[in-house]
Amino acid sequence: MTDKKATLNIGDEHYEFDIREGSIGPDVIDIAPLYKNTDRFTFDPGFTSTASCESAITYIDGDAGVLLHRGYPIEQLAEKGDFLETCYLLLYGDLPTAPQKEDFVNRVTYHTMLHDQMTKLFTGFRRDAHPMAVMVGVVGALSAFYHDSTDITDENQRMIASLRMIAKMPTIAAMAYKYSVGQPFVYPRNDLDYASNFLHMCFAVPAEEYKVDPVLARAMDRIFILHADHEQNASTSTVRLAGSSGANPFACVAAGIACLWGPAHGGANEAALTMLHEIGTPDRIPEFVARAKDKSDPFRLMGFGHRVYKNYDPRAKIMQQTTHEVLGVLGIKDDPILDVAMELEKIALEDPYFIERGLYPNIDFYSGITLKALGFPTEMFTVLFSLARTVGWIAQWKEMIEDPRQKIGRPRQLYTGPEKRDYVGMSDR
Ligand code: CMC
Repeated sequence: MTDKKATLNIGDEHYEFDIREGSIGPDVIDIAPLYKNTDRFTFDPGFTSTASCESAITYIDGDAGVLLHRGYPIEQLAEKGDFLETCYLLLYGDLPTAPQKEDFVNRVTYHTMLHDQMTKLFTGFRRDAHPMAVMVGVVGALSAFYHDSTDITDENQRMIASLRMIAKMPTIAAMAYKYSVGQPFVYPRNDLDYASNFLHMCFAVPAEEYKVDPVLARAMDRIFILHADHEQNASTSTVRLAGSSGANPFACVAAGIACLWGPAHGGANEAALTMLHEIGTPDRIPEFVARAKDKSDPFRLMGFGHRVYKNYDPRAKIMQQTTHEVLGVLGIKDDPILDVAMELEKIALEDPYFIERGLYPNIDFYSGITLKALGFPTEMFTVLFSLARTVGWIAQWKEMIEDPRQKIGRPRQLYTGPEKRDYVGMSDR
């Protein structure tokens, strides 16, 4: 709390509100008592000016292009750390020591297998089901299989549920993929690291040996790090809101996956690649850029723009480098889609429309190209995002549940419907 106060004048009524200071970033005006004191609500659709919670996990400075997890810059975590270390950091607040890391990796690894009955769930879906539809269903169903970790008042159960989800999400995602391509499920291999195990479960087949390329595994791991958490975005806010009612964490994460699916959020990597294919060749870029600028056309350049970043998304820079590493290892030199992507980026970065609005390529612009090169079909892109974001959702959910001031989330509204009126019988309508 600061000594500074915010004053609200409504006609000749005057109200004072406390101003709270974060460790970094903008102060917030604490309007919690607004309704009680003034009989009025605030109106902020899309939460563009509203802090929905207090959090010590992730900090973003969208104007400066900064992303910190528990204070550590994303660039350093992506370059020097690995995904499970990042998971530990998000969950526990600090980087692990060597014994803590070993113990954490063991605990996650111990939970990678799925209850065998769950494999039958997959076969209930159509083969051509979108894997995100499968993810929403199967992750929600975890609460039907792991009753011993759904008591949210028990700290130990909360942690077991968290570890289970981090550990099982790659298994579920890989099974969703295998089912869609008609191949047998591949069980987890606990001798492999997290990313290698995931690639193995996706691309190994019983008929031949599959060796995971360490550069590709490292790229996969980095993609997971880059997507691990992103403050109070739509899916994280969904998880928090679902969790605020006391729902179990598996159900909350299933809600987060549903929200992530949308093209304005996690679905953008799939949409960006689809768009690059639609553009096809660099000479068609001006036509698409013109459409993106035309207000009468709903088309937007997918993979551009961000609610918070009005500067370069720091994750996009790392992703761009990872893209080149992956294409290098795979010997992909003349990818026409990559040519379109590079040219589109160049043109958009020089165009006053994009400059004035602070529209830069976001992480989804490059992740689609990389995931395609790694061998994933476009429908799997958002699935991989959900896999990586699971730890962020869980860390934010745990933080909320463990906050003694936590209460159910319940926004209010500005009502513009009819005033009270009497029921009209059918014959008089
Ligand atoms: N192409 C063309 N114009 C755009 C775009 C775009 N991709 N994004 C925003 N604008 C324009 C928009 O028309 C508006 O112009 P004006 O001021 O003239 O009306 C201005 O920029 C501000 O846009 P907004 O819709 O008010 O911004 P927002 O913060 O509500 O939207 C966004 C953020 C990410 C939903 C939006 O930029 C978008 O739809 N981008 C494409 C989808 C995408 O790449 N999403 C991934 C986001 S990053 C990953 C994640 O967090 O999930």
